[in-house]
Amino acid sequence: MRLRLLLLLALCWAGPSAAARTLSLRGRWRIRSGNGSLELPGDVPGCVHSALFQRRLIQDPYYRFNDLDYRWISLDNWTYSKEFRIPFDISKWQKVNLIFEGVDTVTKVLLNNVTIGKTDNMFRRYSFDVTGLVGDVNSIELHFQSPVLYAAQRSKAHTCYQVPPSCPPLVQKGECHVNFIRKEQCSFSWDWGPSFPTQGIWKDVRIEAYNICHLNYFTFSPIYDNRAQEWNLEIESSFDVVSSKPVYGQVIVALPKLQTQQTHSIDLQPGERIVELFVKINKNIAVETWWPHGHGNQTGYNMTILFKLDGGLSIEKSAKVYFRTVELIEEPIKGSPGLSFYFKINGFPIFLKGSNWIPADSFQDRVTSDLLRLLLQSAVDANMNTLRVWGGGIYERDEFYELCDELGIMVWQDFMFACALYPADQGFVDSVRAEVAYQVRRLKSHPSIIIWSGNNENEAALMMNWYGIHFSDLHTYINDYVTLYVKNIREVVLAGDKTRPFVTSSPTNGAESVAEGWVSHNPYDKHFGDIHFYDYVSDCWNWKIFPKARFASEYGYQSWPSFSTLEKVSSEEDWSYESKFSLHRQHHAHGNDEMLLQAGLHFKLPQSTDPLRSFKDTIYLTQVVQAQCVKTETEFYRRSRSEIVTGEGHTMGALYWQLNDIWQAPSWASLEYGGKWKMLHYFARHFFAPLLPVGFENQDVFFIYGVSDLHSDCKVTLTVRVHAWSSLEPLCSRDTKHLVMKVGEAVLLYREPVPKLLERCGRCTRQSCVVSFHLSAAGRLLSPTNYHFLSSLKEAVGLQKANITAVVSPHGGTFVFDLETSAVAPFVWLDVGSIPGRFSDNGFLMTEKTRAVVFHPWKPTSKRELEQSLQVTSLTDIY
Ligand SMILES: *[C@@H]1O[C@H](CO)[C@@H](O)[C@H](O)[C@H]1NC(C)=O
Ligand SMILES: *[C@@H]1O[C@H](CO)[C@@H](O)[C@H](O)[C@H]1NC(C)=O
Ligand SMILES: *[C@@H]1O[C@H](CO)[C@@H](O)[C@H](O)[C@H]1NC(C)=O
Ligand SMILES: *[C@@H]1O[C@H](CO)[C@@H](O)[C@H](O)[C@H]1NC(C)=O
Ligand SMILES: *[C@@H]1O[C@H](CO)[C@@H](O)[C@H](O)[C@H]1NC(C)=O
Ligand SMILES: *[C@@H]1O[C@H](CO)[C@@H](O)[C@H](O)[C@H]1NC(C)=O
Repeated sequence: MRLRLLLLLALCWAGPSAAARTLSLRGRWRIRSGNGSLELPGDVPGCVHSALFQRRLIQDPYYRFNDLDYRWISLDNWTYSKEFRIPFDISKWQKVNLIFEGVDTVTKVLLNNVTIGKTDNMFRRYSFDVTGLVGDVNSIELHFQSPVLYAAQRSKAHTCYQVPPSCPPLVQKGECHVNFIRKEQCSFSWDWGPSFPTQGIWKDVRIEAYNICHLNYFTFSPIYDNRAQEWNLEIESSFDVVSSKPVYGQVIVALPKLQTQQTHSIDLQPGERIVELFVKINKNIAVETWWPHGHGNQTGYNMTILFKLDGGLSIEKSAKVYFRTVELIEEPIKGSPGLSFYFKINGFPIFLKGSNWIPADSFQDRVTSDLLRLLLQSAVDANMNTLRVWGGGIYERDEFYELCDELGIMVWQDFMFACALYPADQGFVDSVRAEVAYQVRRLKSHPSIIIWSGNNENEAALMMNWYGIHFSDLHTYINDYVTLYVKNIREVVLAGDKTRPFVTSSPTNGAESVAEGWVSHNPYDKHFGDIHFYDYVSDCWNWKIFPKARFASEYGYQSWPSFSTLEKVSSEEDWSYESKFSLHRQHHAHGNDEMLLQAGLHFKLPQSTDPLRSFKDTIYLTQVVQAQCVKTETEFYRRSRSEIVTGEGHTMGALYWQLNDIWQAPSWASLEYGGKWKMLHYFARHFFAPLLPVGFENQDVFFIYGVSDLHSDCKVTLTVRVHAWSSLEPLCSRDTKHLVMKVGEAVLLYREPVPKLLERCGRCTRQSCVVSFHLSAAGRLLSPTNYHFLSSLKEAVGLQKANITAVVSPHGGTFVFDLETSAVAPFVWLDVGSIPGRFSDNGFLMTEKTRAVVFHPWKPTSKRELEQSLQVTSLTDIY
């Protein structure tokens, strides 16, 4: 025992790299309420809500109406404290820092009863110099101030003019003045999320002690030199030199697979020093670039950086380097006023397909690595290549972006400002500058991030006058807008990163907004930049209601999450569409009515007299309607990529709102809280497919466009079938051979007047038939089987009650569901309740007697469990 200890100590002393010691302060802390009536242990990283829940002092905050009942938690001022010993001789170290990777949010920090600083921005990293103050035995305390009270105080102190909106709409049951605090904006409530303004130490915290010299951070950007046709690496390292003399040494950068190794000498003067290195990548080795999912590999290269400094000091770091270029192309288009708005990756124009990301939980400590991976893998499995990290949430953790790099998900990264005007006084701006500089430096080495964007919808809020600002005051607010997003955020971003584009807002008119003084009179202009589009009232089956814009970065429709998800946070009395609970969880005014209104346009509403059955059927129907609406809209954007019609088109992006849910409630999401796929997500897998036939009608003529995201032309056969609702045998089928799907284009493949189509197939009316179509080559299916309804389904003639049976058999790690139906069945939905996993397809139109579907479990399960949980629903089941 003693021998081993001696050996260990010897090892520590011997190593020249023992230039720094760290002590993690993660783990158990004590948490105390403002007046001391509550005291409990709590984990760091974590928050007060989670600590109370873990101690069973509160229920699951998401249960029923608890968001209202637990409001007191965020209105109190909590204290976090901890005693700790330093397990090494602290007096031997020249400099000691206390480092917080994230504090949520407003605190006074005390070490050994001495105030060492304050925090007021959850998106910043804080480092406090505690040299001389820290001893062998220490106490640390963070005095939190209620974020709600703080925001109200700041708003009140802003005496010269109001910065709207003061409060969220009542239906959101949220807190006010969130724009005055640098904290996750949706934590004060959103139209899809609850109000849980958390308090806590939400990221890592540690003590760091060092001598001579310390590497604070290092970051890098790969840059392609067009003229020399070679890659360079710009590496930035930051040092704190505490020795009184300069420190000399060498830095050796190596990327073995690229046969690149370079040595630079450095000399570091005392103080905080930044070292910039420029490394040329060996031109004789072909660099494989990083590609988005669906366009190539996500090749990366290992890099090591070794700093060998005076006195045997040696610091080694490693990182993964990915090489890719990104350009945002805004240039004139023939036949259209305005400018294009699209991305080229490695010189290749890419249509951005995907969705918008919101925080995966109100309590970040509940978000596991497994959950992040599951959600991001689900995005890729649905053929997405892009997620927009939306500006009302958080800058996600490193792991999120590492996964995006690995999976080939492009990220449109907003800065965290959303749906509000913001103050621009010096204190606020200084805090934001520190936040932006830190985030850019933390994130810029990720190839997944392809654009920075200043905020979400704030240009629109200002210029479309959402808050009823008097005309004579507008210039004040425009000044503040330009001060914050242009003179500060943009400036700090460009100083830290010139390798990707920056836009001030989303939606924006891009270059046109800049030309109009950074704010356009109509940021929703279809001829410039991106748009957000929502219309719940018009008929979503009519593609003519959608804007033929350059880029749609937000659009969508609501639905309810499945019963198995709701069941976990509700009780029997809540299980109806009209219950107090159903109204409570709906944070979008009239949302529940809008869903039924949209449903009623084409579907019969559920008719069961059994209340639970009726609730479940309504949930199913809202998912059907959402899936069908977003399908129609997305297919419209994808088929608009190559054409200009009356000056509009060249659409190059479709990111629907929203990918994931923050809790169990109705929302625009395609993934439920916890990750279960809604019908929309299965539909996305089809409507984002690399090769897709899109059907639509214009003035009684039926058209099929072929959309290709591939990098080479592709010869295909198009098969068009007409089915009667009353028969499992197609009425007619026609192949069109030797069609060419051109690289990155949407081309017309087929047209036929609907009356002719119906006549050709015989015994058909719009009400009695449905069209299906797919692409193939040499008998191999190349696209999803798509379909086109010729009439509303509430008017369908011949549709029979389908009796669908399933035989489940295990197959490797998956399960095959062999389905058999007695009749044509629209929107066949397989639901295995809470068993985690997803099907290979779901929500489909079953026109054939049999079909096999594969279930991919996310956790071990069995044939028996699946059979017991399985519920099959198709449209006629709800009539
Ligand atoms: C302490 O604060 C809690 C929460 O604000 C309150 O309910 C309680 O009455 C207070 N207790 C005392 C002794 O003031
Ligand atoms: C919390 O702190 C603020 C500011 O220090 C104070 O005004 C408020 O009364 C405190 N609230 C509670 C519940 O102690
Ligand atoms: C901490 O400091 C305060 C005021 O500075 C003092 O009143 C208090 O006694 C000190 N507490 C301890 C434990 O030293
Ligand atoms: C992608 O990686 C695979 C396997 O390593 C390789 O066979 C293929 O050539 C790569 N594709 C491209 C486009 O580099
Ligand atoms: C690259 O680095 C990772 C992590 O350090 C390591 O697991 C992997 O084996 C390395 N790859 C190569 C090709 O050296
Ligand atoms: C459905 O089909 C199965 C198998 O063919 C049969 O056993 C069952 O009775 C049918 N159910 C109904 C309601 O017709």
